[in-house]
Amino acid sequence: MSRSVNAEPEPGAVRAMFDRIAGSYDLLNSLMTAGLHHRWRDLAVMLARVGPGARVLDVCCGTGDVAFALKRAVGEEGRVIGLDFSAHMLEVAREKCGKNQLFVDFMLGDALTLPFADGSFDACTVGFGIRNVQDISAAFAEMGRVCRPGARVVCLEITHPQVPGFRQFYGFWFDRVVPWLGRLTSRDLSAYSYLPASVKRFPGPDALLGLMEKAGLRHARYELLAGGIIAIHHAYV
Ligand SMILES: C[S@@+](CC[C@H](N)C(=O)[O-])C[C@H]1O[C@@H](n2cnc3c(N)ncnc32)[C@H](O)[C@@H]1O
Repeated sequence: MSRSVNAEPEPGAVRAMFDRIAGSYDLLNSLMTAGLHHRWRDLAVMLARVGPGARVLDVCCGTGDVAFALKRAVGEEGRVIGLDFSAHMLEVAREKCGKNQLFVDFMLGDALTLPFADGSFDACTVGFGIRNVQDISAAFAEMGRVCRPGARVVCLEITHPQVPGFRQFYGFWFDRVVPWLGRLTSRDLSAYSYLPASVKRFPGPDALLGLMEKAGLRHARYELLAGGIIAIHHAYV
């Protein structure tokens, strides 16, 4: 039976929902994006501009795909921490360390109260996560706080396309196809009606840029991908 999850990101309900869908999350992601999500994650990592030896934090890491892409960039001598508040998503991420032959530290925590000292990281990323956080600007401020001055903060997210043809496709995809795929793969009705609702109420790319600036991040910019359905926002601390 499905439980209802409000369109508003109420933290307890969001965490419980991700706990329930953790086992099918990767499969659904690949189906929903035709496998393109790996390319988008790699671009986000490129915009984080981290090299061998860097220390990087990936918040809302989920099953770890952004964190693993970061680990490839920072190499053996670098360190990547993936943080998420869903214990079940983290379990899946930890299982993937062996399969990927990459060591990433996965830890339980809240994006709004990061358990790290100021200036601990060379970059901080968030992939498809900020949309679920209750206070977006506060989350960006936390990401900036735990980074050293001059570090990069990068946010990969679904956004509202501006091109008319893509707008219709986007409506059809999120309102019809995604809930259907979600039912097929996880049998959790509420989870995949939450997704389109969360995307619709999420600020557009310019408004998100404003929230980064409000959080004190500097020189914020964004890149649009996939016909404007995906945005990568990036800024300096
Ligand atoms: C859509 S998943 C994205 C996972 C992963 N970053 C990716 O790129 O596939 C969103 C994740 O954000 C996590 N999350 C949402 N709000 C959070 C918060 N306040 N603190 C930590 N994690 C949070 C959820 O548990 C979930 O794993």
